[in-house]
Amino acid sequence: MSAAADLDALLAEARTVIQDAGSAQELAEVRSRFLGKKGSVASVLRAIGTLAPEERGAVGQAANQAKAEIEALVKARKGALESAAESQNLSEHHLDVSLPGAAPTRGHLHPITLVERDMCEFFKGLGYSVEDGPEVESDWNNFGALNFPEDHPARDLQDTFFVEGSTNVLRTHTSPVQIRAMSEREPPFRFIVPGRVYRYDLDPTHYPMFHQIEGFCVGEDVSLGDLKGTLYAFARHLFGEQAELRFRAHFFPFTEPSAEMDVSWGEGWLEWGGCGMIHPRVLLNCGIDPDRFQGFAFGMALDRAAMIRSGIPNIQLLFDGDVRVLEQF
Ligand code: DAH
Repeated sequence: MSAAADLDALLAEARTVIQDAGSAQELAEVRSRFLGKKGSVASVLRAIGTLAPEERGAVGQAANQAKAEIEALVKARKGALESAAESQNLSEHHLDVSLPGAAPTRGHLHPITLVERDMCEFFKGLGYSVEDGPEVESDWNNFGALNFPEDHPARDLQDTFFVEGSTNVLRTHTSPVQIRAMSEREPPFRFIVPGRVYRYDLDPTHYPMFHQIEGFCVGEDVSLGDLKGTLYAFARHLFGEQAELRFRAHFFPFTEPSAEMDVSWGEGWLEWGGCGMIHPRVLLNCGIDPDRFQGFAFGMALDRAAMIRSGIPNIQLLFDGDVRVLEQF
């Protein structure tokens, strides 16, 4: 067979196998079979030396043309294989960028927090500062300094949680913050204290942990009238302009006179908290001269306001952390 016929046969074979190569690797093998150092075209070129000198030029040229054609065929097949792989990839890993995304879920504040913030904003508007205190409190701050005698039944009445191994208690009311704040400052001042308090009590309207908001104001000419005016404004801010208050004479060791206070609610009244003029002995316990300064104080249920606002009938629902309940706000 002549070298030219060899090359023709070789090219014909190359066209078929290149077209049949089904993967990049197969194609690379086919390529080196024809174009590699020991490939078919190379052996044709090597054999040139055995040809008659006048044939060498033509065969050399034909071999180079064959080489170029095979190279081009390989390149075309490579492109075809790549785009086939890409379309397969696209159809298997389909992503519809026009689909709407998953909306992130949004949290919200707890009904208690909402009411607490609203209350604080209201009192800040009246020039009050917001004060804070610890929930584990000394017996002195929670009871003694507030004028509870040692054996006063109120200490039991409050169903106190005592802290094991110490005289500390879980504060039963926010009133001990009065002692902390007043002992550190010179009047005049006015504060509110929203916070958690603890009592051993559990039914639909009582929970062992609940919230109060304490308020107190001390100065040289603070009167019972100021207390009533402040509480009226507070009640009307929270419950609407039609809200009425009812004061019932009561006893607290740390106020004199003292009152319990109800707020009108629909047809009836809602027990809302206690209030009074700060007892002179409490002022003295805080290093304040009761002959010069007077003050009023009040302590209100905060949870109850949140229950009314959000229409929750059972206080436990506020604290159980049941998402089905909380999601409704
Ligand atoms: N500390 C009282 C309680 O928990 C509420 C209270 C009554 C607070 C009268 C006061 C007050 O500041 O003057 O029941």
